[in-house]
Amino acid sequence: RKPKVTIIGSINMDLVTITDEVAMQGETVHGKDFRTLHGGKGANQAVAASRLGADVSMIGKVGDDDFGRSMLENFEANGVDIEGIGIEKDTPSGIANIIVSNKDNRIIIIAGANGKVDRAHVDRYAEIIRESDIVLVQFEIPMETVKHAIDICSRENVPVIINPAPVTALEDAYFEAAAYITPNEHERAKLFKMRDDGLPEHHEKLITTQGAQGASYFKDGREIILPPKNVEVVDTTGAGDTFNAAFAVAIAEGKDIEAAINFANAAAGLAVGKIGAQNGMPKREDLQ
Ligand code: RIB
Ligand code: NA
Repeated sequence: RKPKVTIIGSINMDLVTITDEVAMQGETVHGKDFRTLHGGKGANQAVAASRLGADVSMIGKVGDDDFGRSMLENFEANGVDIEGIGIEKDTPSGIANIIVSNKDNRIIIIAGANGKVDRAHVDRYAEIIRESDIVLVQFEIPMETVKHAIDICSRENVPVIINPAPVTALEDAYFEAAAYITPNEHERAKLFKMRDDGLPEHHEKLITTQGAQGASYFKDGREIILPPKNVEVVDTTGAGDTFNAAFAVAIAEGKDIEAAINFANAAAGLAVGKIGAQNGMPKREDLQ
């Protein structure tokens, strides 16, 4: 049986500008290329998990516009179940304005319909959550909805992975309820204090993504970093999403933490080889 993975989160159209240099304040520069690509942390995680062989449901919202229709088609093309996606009238689909330069990525998101993913919407699809082997949440929909989703997972005994991105404060009780928490280094430093023994709060469930270094977990009070294999980097947008999806699929299949991180590193390593969050995401067979 395929593992059943449910993603509760954002769906964006990524408006990607590729440039050698970014414009400084008051300056105009010529860029190199522009692409309109499917993105959003939730959607990216759903597409990645589906390509990796999971049975995936997405819970979220798009606007009643061309971007929204295109994003629904993209889910269907990638085998993601869209029963849990609402079409919000009079609100545009979410977008991300992304600048990929030689040095880094910069992203501005406009929530649009993602901002309308409320508790009632999640309640409507509680049955999908109940039937899941694992649930993934991120922080691009309203936090009260994220909290509600975590509460439903606790109530239904479904393990939930919290990907705390983009970084936003959340009461400790919710992190307490998570099976795993998957920050990057920056998010981890902002969200989790160091305890007196030098270990971060919730270290037992922290999986920290560390860019080109790979990802870490804690074992017997020590942090162990597992590196990826020879990765060619073209665009790191969505690398964390691929990692999260692959990690969730592996855990749902019963792999141990170390095997799950290695699987996730391999998937993310392939994803960064192409422009755009979803373009390089591997299929299961690409990872054999
Ligand atoms: O994690 C990458 C994603 O973050 C992009 O696809 C963009 O939509 C932003 O939400
Ligand atoms: Na990519």
